[in-house]
Amino acid sequence: MNVKGTKSSRPVLNGDILLTQIKQLSEVGLDGSGGRTRLAVSEEEKKGRDLVVGWMKELGLDVRVDKVGNIFGILPGPSGELDNALMLGSHIDTVINAGPYDGCYGVLSGLAVARAFRESGMTPPRPLAVAAFTDEEGVRFQPDMLGSLVYVGGMSLEEGLAAADEDGITLGQALEDIGYAGSEEPGFLIPSEYLELHIEQGPRLDAEGLRIGAVEGVQGISWWRVTIGGKANHAGTTPMNLRHDAGLAAARVICSMREHTLAAGTTLAATGAIAFEPGLINVIPSKATFTVDLRDPDGEKLLLAEKALAECLEKVGRDEGVTVTSEHVASFEPVVFHPELIQKVEDAARRRGIPSMRMVSGAGHDAQMMARVCKTAMIFVPSVEGISHNPAEHTEREDLLLGAELLLDVVMDLLEN
Ligand code: GLV
Ligand code: MN
Ligand code: MN
Repeated sequence: MNVKGTKSSRPVLNGDILLTQIKQLSEVGLDGSGGRTRLAVSEEEKKGRDLVVGWMKELGLDVRVDKVGNIFGILPGPSGELDNALMLGSHIDTVINAGPYDGCYGVLSGLAVARAFRESGMTPPRPLAVAAFTDEEGVRFQPDMLGSLVYVGGMSLEEGLAAADEDGITLGQALEDIGYAGSEEPGFLIPSEYLELHIEQGPRLDAEGLRIGAVEGVQGISWWRVTIGGKANHAGTTPMNLRHDAGLAAARVICSMREHTLAAGTTLAATGAIAFEPGLINVIPSKATFTVDLRDPDGEKLLLAEKALAECLEKVGRDEGVTVTSEHVASFEPVVFHPELIQKVEDAARRRGIPSMRMVSGAGHDAQMMARVCKTAMIFVPSVEGISHNPAEHTEREDLLLGAELLLDVVMDLLEN
């Protein structure tokens, strides 16, 4: 079916409004250090949600919130049915002290596409839905991408709502508290396609001088929380061979996983959070708790990394005379996106004369969950110097606009063909 309308033959993207909205949303949760913090389903994130919902309503979108707090703004097709929808989306929660674009860019570009239809007076031949998924970052509630995972049926609603933060507050309670425990069943609108526009968050496009990434998939992710129990003792009197040093044991695990990654080639490992108890300069740590984030585009190699971690924990426990327990808090296999959609992203870039690059995402995205239920792809634009999860995260204005234009191109290609 052709996209037909009265005022214009093609919806036109309003880049100024997109950039203004990105700036406005980026100012929600500013924390005085130059970054912003909108942890999932927090009071600060509620302000971001309210802003986005307000903008959806300004566009006359049909706003729906599901039981896990995912927000959808729907521009209905001619029949008013939700069948055969095209969904655009991402997330608006952030890590602590985040940059301005991660997630927000995809949601607001989705709104820019809906606005382009509204302003041209055109009704899309099938529904267009813009999604902001709950708790993509997984900082407050694990696993990451929890909202989209529940949405596609990869986790039950009950289990998702029972996820608790460090203070024991459940996601369900937090949603009630901020007024975003919606009524729709997760999965109430399974689209035919899902497209997510995102900053790359890594250095490849910037280093290659390229402006568009046609994302072929997302690498696998395995998250662990490790607790090591040692024995507190005097740091000045206890001989080294008589210590049960939980801190030293943790350090050995971190170094050992680095060795594993260097040998494996593509595997990545990070310990992004660590705490010692009692946490005093002259006391040997009695307890270490830390996280391990393992990633690899190859599922087999990710399994090998998990095995290496398990073996290392066992060896360090034995060598240092400490107890070790580990909890697997998230596990997602590598995901391959839909070839037809990846091709459409590449074709759209080529039509604009923009060289693009096929690439696998290093970061996790809601798209990897949506890929379980519909044709999915992602578009990346460069992150200057590859910086993300950092207030210095930056993407040039021209690249933000190009990415959104390209998103609209792919939307039009999908709707017209
Ligand atoms: C999400 O941002 C992740 O990849 O950790
Ligand atoms: Mn993101
Ligand atoms: Mn992120």
